[in-house]
Amino acid sequence: MSPAHGFRGRSVVSADDFSKEDLVGLLDASPFFEGDVGPRLRGKVLGTLFFEPSTRTRLSFESAMHRLGGAVVGFADAKMSSHAKGESLADTIRVVESYCDAIVLRHPMEGAARLAAETAHVPVINGGDGSNQHPTQTFLDLYTIRKSTRRLDGLHVGFFGDLRYSRTVHSLAKALLHFDVKMTFVGPPMLRLPEELRATLAEHGRIGVEAESLEAAGDLDVLYVTRIQKERFPDPADYEKVKHGYRLDRATAERFGPDLKILHPLPRVTEVDPDVDALPGALYFEQAKNGVTVRKALLSMILTGDGPEGWHG
Ligand code: CP
Repeated sequence: MSPAHGFRGRSVVSADDFSKEDLVGLLDASPFFEGDVGPRLRGKVLGTLFFEPSTRTRLSFESAMHRLGGAVVGFADAKMSSHAKGESLADTIRVVESYCDAIVLRHPMEGAARLAAETAHVPVINGGDGSNQHPTQTFLDLYTIRKSTRRLDGLHVGFFGDLRYSRTVHSLAKALLHFDVKMTFVGPPMLRLPEELRATLAEHGRIGVEAESLEAAGDLDVLYVTRIQKERFPDPADYEKVKHGYRLDRATAERFGPDLKILHPLPRVTEVDPDVDALPGALYFEQAKNGVTVRKALLSMILTGDGPEGWHG
C-alpha cells in the first residue's frame, strides 16, 4: 500500500496522530506538488473556518485548493458568521460539512479541532487550536528542514522564544520524536515548555540544553524562532514583563556558522532582526512558500488518496 493511503479521508488534528511512515510519505510526495500538477481536485470544495486571524495558513490552503482546481468557501472573520449570533462550533460544523468535502478550522480553544473532527463526517484539518497544536505547520516545517539539510535524523534543533504558548513548537517537537533529533529550548523562564510536553521529551532523552540565552545552546543545525504569543497571556501584565525578552540579531545568528538554518512560522514582530533576512540560512519566507506545496500534497492525499503520479487510491 502506498504511503499516500494513510491520509485518505483522514482528519488532521494533532501532529502525534501521525506515524513516521505517514510523515515521510507526505514529505516524499510533496516535491511533486511544487509545480503545476493539474486540476486534481476539480469538483471538490474546501471550507475554511477561521475564528482567529491568519495570513499564511488560510491563504496557503486556499491557494493550494485553487491551484488543484478545487473551490473554497468560508470565512476569515468569525464576527461575520453566525457565531456572532451565538451558534455553537458543533452546530457550525454540522452545517458547513454539508457544503464542502473537507474543513480547515482555526479556533482559539484548545481541543476545538478534535471536537470538530468528532462531529463532522468530512475530514477536519486543524489550522491551529489555541496554544495546543498546528499540525500542518509542522508538516511544512519538516519539509523545509529536510529540503535544506537533506535529512531529519542526526540534527540538533534549537527552539527559541515563546515555548509555552507556541502551538507550532508543541506540534513540531512531538513530530521530531519520530526522528533522531536533539532538541534545545531557549527562552524566558516565564515562557518555558508546558510541563507535560517537557516530561515527554525528557522521557525520550531528547532535551539537550534548556537555557535563557542562545549562548548556552551549543552547535545547532536548525534554529526555530517563535513570536511571543501576546494573545494567549491570561494576564496582560505578564506579557508586558517579557515582550522584549529575546531577539535574534545577525551577529548572534552568525556565531552558529554559515550552515545554520533559521526557521520561523511567522508572523514576526520584533524577535528576528530584519538584518538576519539576508543570511543564506534565513529560510522563513521560503518556509511560508512551502506551505502551499505541502498543503497541495496533503489536500490531494486526503480528498482523493492520490499522491504523485502512479499513487492512485
Ligand atoms: N504560521 C502561521 O500559522 O501563520 P498565520 O497565523 O498567518 O496563519
